[in-house]
Amino acid sequence: MSDSPLLLSIAVLGGTGKEGKGLAYRWAKAGYHIHIGSRDPEKAKAAATEVSEMLGGEAMIEGLGNADAARAANIVVLTVPYSAHKDTLESVKSELKGKILVDVSVPLMPPKVATVQMPGAGSAAQEAKQIVGEGVEVCAAFQNISHELLLDNAEVECDVLVTGTSKEARGEVLKLVEAAGLRGWDAGPLENSVVLEGLTSVLIGINRKYGSTNAGIKITGVSS
Ligand SMILES: NC(=O)c1ccc[n+]([C@@H]2O[C@H](COP(=O)([O-])OP(=O)(O)OC[C@H]3O[C@@H](n4cnc5c(N)ncnc54)[C@H](OP(=O)(O)O)[C@@H]3O)[C@@H](O)[C@H]2O)c1
Repeated sequence: MSDSPLLLSIAVLGGTGKEGKGLAYRWAKAGYHIHIGSRDPEKAKAAATEVSEMLGGEAMIEGLGNADAARAANIVVLTVPYSAHKDTLESVKSELKGKILVDVSVPLMPPKVATVQMPGAGSAAQEAKQIVGEGVEVCAAFQNISHELLLDNAEVECDVLVTGTSKEARGEVLKLVEAAGLRGWDAGPLENSVVLEGLTSVLIGINRKYGSTNAGIKITGVSS
């Protein structure tokens, strides 16, 4: 896969929402070609226009239906609520063969969103792998970064842990972490996604207890 942002395109499914729009903004700013996906292509176009305007009209960004966005991209990023996770994946899985899927979803189960509750597969990312099947590399990343930080231009202190089905796929996602202006760490196989996803509930609990909105994590004692 190419190192050049110009040759790599990214689909952000659910990029009309908070987290996806933040990631689309960061990557569009870095020069990647972005395809925002939505259940409603008009909603996706409006979100693409909004991000483009945030970047002074300079961005390569467009809005499409989820399947068309996935088809158009080399890397597909999933940013939908867990309640929509399975249906969204089923609707695009035929477009994912030979690509990397980056699952940002957290299996939050309201009302107890500050309690870690994992699905039977072990984590949302492992469930995604079961749904998309062979021929798709699946990674998990960005679960611990708030959308507020992504949409802010300030430097982000919080690190990003990346798990995935191969070292090579994790390496590609770590390049996207860096392109987004963040520090990433290879956190091992997809089975470790339970930690990334579970940490989100812990951080939500910390935010509630200490009156913050952007609690995050940082790896110490090692230089990248
Ligand atoms: N927000 C954060 O700061 C944050 C941080 C880390 C991780 N996450 C995770 O990232 C994922 C997205 O979070 P978010 O806060 O961006 O969510 P959101 O804004 O509520 O929703 C994102 C998008 O999901 C799509 N969607 C598809 N099916 C849906 C359904 N049945 N109900 C509602 N929306 C549906 C919608 O897009 P269309 O209507 O255009 O299809 C919506 O714009 C979640 O799994 C969350 O846990 C969020």
